[in-house]
Amino acid sequence: MTIKEIFDSMAYGPAPESAAEALAWIASHNATFGHYIDGSFTAPGQTFITRNPATGQPLAQVTQGTAEDVARAVEAARRAQPKWARLPAFRRAEYLYALARLVQKHSRLFAVLETLDNGKPIRESRDIDIPLVARHFSYHAGLAQLLPSEHPDLAPLGVCGAIIPWNFPLLMLAWKVAPALAAGNTVVLKPAEYTPLTALLFADISREAGLPKGVLNIVTGDGSTGAALVDAPVDKIAFTGSTSVGKRIREATAGTGKALTLELGGKSPYIVFDDADLDSAVEGLVDAIWFNQGQVCCAGSRLLVQEGVAPRFYDKLKRRMDGLRVGDPLDKCIDIGAIVDPIQLDTITRLVQDNPEGEHYQAPCPLPAQGCFYPPTLITGLGTASPLMQEEIFGPVLVSMTFRTPEEAVQLANNTRYGLAATVWTENINLALDIAPKLKAGVVWINATNLFDAAAGFGGVRESGFGREGGWEGLMAYLKPAARPAALKPAAPIPAPADPQVDALDRTAKLYIGGKQTRPDSGYSQPVYSPKGHLLGHVGIGNRKDIRNAVEAAHAAKAWAKTTAYNRAQVLYFIAENLSARAAEFARRLENLTGKPGAAEVEASIQRLFTYAAWADKYDGAAKSVPIRGIALAMNEPVGVIGALLPDECPLLGLISVMAPAIAMGNTVVLVPGQHPLAATDFYQVLDTSDVPAGVINIVTGPAPDLAKSLAGHMDVDAVWSFSSHPLSALIEREAAGNLKRTWVNHGRARDWLSPSSEGRTFLAQATEIKTVWVPYGE
Ligand code: NAI
Repeated sequence: MTIKEIFDSMAYGPAPESAAEALAWIASHNATFGHYIDGSFTAPGQTFITRNPATGQPLAQVTQGTAEDVARAVEAARRAQPKWARLPAFRRAEYLYALARLVQKHSRLFAVLETLDNGKPIRESRDIDIPLVARHFSYHAGLAQLLPSEHPDLAPLGVCGAIIPWNFPLLMLAWKVAPALAAGNTVVLKPAEYTPLTALLFADISREAGLPKGVLNIVTGDGSTGAALVDAPVDKIAFTGSTSVGKRIREATAGTGKALTLELGGKSPYIVFDDADLDSAVEGLVDAIWFNQGQVCCAGSRLLVQEGVAPRFYDKLKRRMDGLRVGDPLDKCIDIGAIVDPIQLDTITRLVQDNPEGEHYQAPCPLPAQGCFYPPTLITGLGTASPLMQEEIFGPVLVSMTFRTPEEAVQLANNTRYGLAATVWTENINLALDIAPKLKAGVVWINATNLFDAAAGFGGVRESGFGREGGWEGLMAYLKPAARPAALKPAAPIPAPADPQVDALDRTAKLYIGGKQTRPDSGYSQPVYSPKGHLLGHVGIGNRKDIRNAVEAAHAAKAWAKTTAYNRAQVLYFIAENLSARAAEFARRLENLTGKPGAAEVEASIQRLFTYAAWADKYDGAAKSVPIRGIALAMNEPVGVIGALLPDECPLLGLISVMAPAIAMGNTVVLVPGQHPLAATDFYQVLDTSDVPAGVINIVTGPAPDLAKSLAGHMDVDAVWSFSSHPLSALIEREAAGNLKRTWVNHGRARDWLSPSSEGRTFLAQATEIKTVWVPYGE
């Protein structure tokens, strides 16, 4: 097109960004890359081609990492880690700051290379991805600086394995590498097979920052290389990618003691109320679903529009779609670039073609003759069960349905197995702030969408994974307590005496479900003896059905989450008061059960209840200083239903230490007592007199391994904790993969329940999900 023709037609003229420098960098490596291990590039091994999806042209040959390559990288990271961790905090901060500055300095090279390898519009890589990368390193330089003074009792995990996807290649690298290094860990990172180049450029450039050898290692390859990294002797896996691979990694790491964070898929709702500024909401949608061709885990891919404005809204939306330009991603005037790979393009095409429902609208924009392109697509009038409403398409395809009332909007929004993000458009602040807490999502944007910042936590609930990235909360996932706890000795069972002494009338303790004492489904109970051979009573042998009933009761009691924190504090104080009134009786019981004096444990239990009554309305969220016209509120929400295997060693204090933080934060619980269950069954008499609503606390006695399996495998349980001395960690983590529930297990490590380290923030963090709510604010 000539300049004259452009002036005549007022059409956009092409404004291509040059690829020359990026191609020259590739050529400087002979267009063939090895891995980056221990500070230098290895000789290339067996290679595969990475292509430019906009043209199909090969860009470079990249090495397919083997298990041996991964092992070498992990060894290098292991060797480098102690020295890296021992550096003064300000030195690590300096390195991170240098990385931020170098990303800025080479930002154009990074942006062009990212666009070449991934197909995303240069406008996005230049103005969004790369600036956010620099911001992430810069922010984490600050966290590295402040970490020792803010958290003197925490230590790095060791070597972190990071496995990242292809949709934001360099940004995902930054999200994993920056916190890992800030916390004093070293890293082995595996980029996605479609998009390895910016990670290799970053490795190259990290040498300019003088980053010590072995601190950052990059091994390229496909899923098998990722699987080798998961199996390698690393201390943590941080993964972003598909839910199916996330589940596989959860199973593969079960019981290994490796820390795990999973940032997985989504089908995020985009809710437009009838009073919304519709033009802004349409613009928001362009960012929600056509940003990065819709290949965004938190894409607003499910449009829910209030019925009264739906025709007008669809009309405006279609007109806006008609103006979107699809084409050469290096052209600065392009809105929508290339899909990352022909395989992804096929998946999108198939999903849309196979859908017989609703009305399809595709923008009539011309597509380039070659390369992986897909037009912006809107599918309206779908039913809730339609696969397109439920499955992640991961392309520029928006699906939509209408709703009538705010309640229906919430119901539809939450009708998904995912829970990553949600967007709400309304001019009514009351409505927006009413809806935000009701949405099952880790991030909520109000009158905006797809906002990200290093200071604000990002991550999901349900099958969108667990853990947060960004902010102090993200850093915590790379740290552990500095003191290594001792190994936990399995509780020695008290044998049945040959000639049991029966002191009193037999009392069979029942289960405690939904505020009622219930008989176990099995109809069986077992005797409990004291170490001196006295028969102390019987406890019910609970089974899977009892767990199911208890979980149902815990769900039915979910209104507990909506009570005020003040109210929950009052209930905890009341429990403490009632336990205090029966302190002598409980001390005697503990002595009978364990053979040791019980008064100190009762006293510590009362104090712990007071502690969590105090915390109930003081475990505050935060208002994050994000660099936009708004704030990001970090709200601590309850996790939901928590199942917990209680410790064997402190029957009463263990129960209180686990139950109290959970209910203080608004969760409901199903507790499985440990070795001395009568302490727990006595305790429900205290609960009965303490105004605890029915179903908030449920107690199921029985064999810990069986009940752990039922709890961890239950699809309506949101988290499982285990402090049992039985080796249950592997079982729980494996079973938890089903619905990707959060787990917190002891991996055979002991805990001193009397110590202050067994209360407070660690427990409260496990009892909450941080929801980041982005709200417009200020000028
Ligand atoms: P994927 O989950 O297979 O790939 C993500 C990363 O995991 C890549 O580095 C890959 O090599 C690695 N990987 C694959 N299998 C592995 C294994 N068994 N163990 C360890 N690492 C492994 O995603 P894929 O196949 O590239 O895309 C498929 C779908 O996944 C997309 O259509 C989309 O729905 C979803 N996805 C979601 C992302 C997100 O940001 N949440 C990112 C990428 C994909």
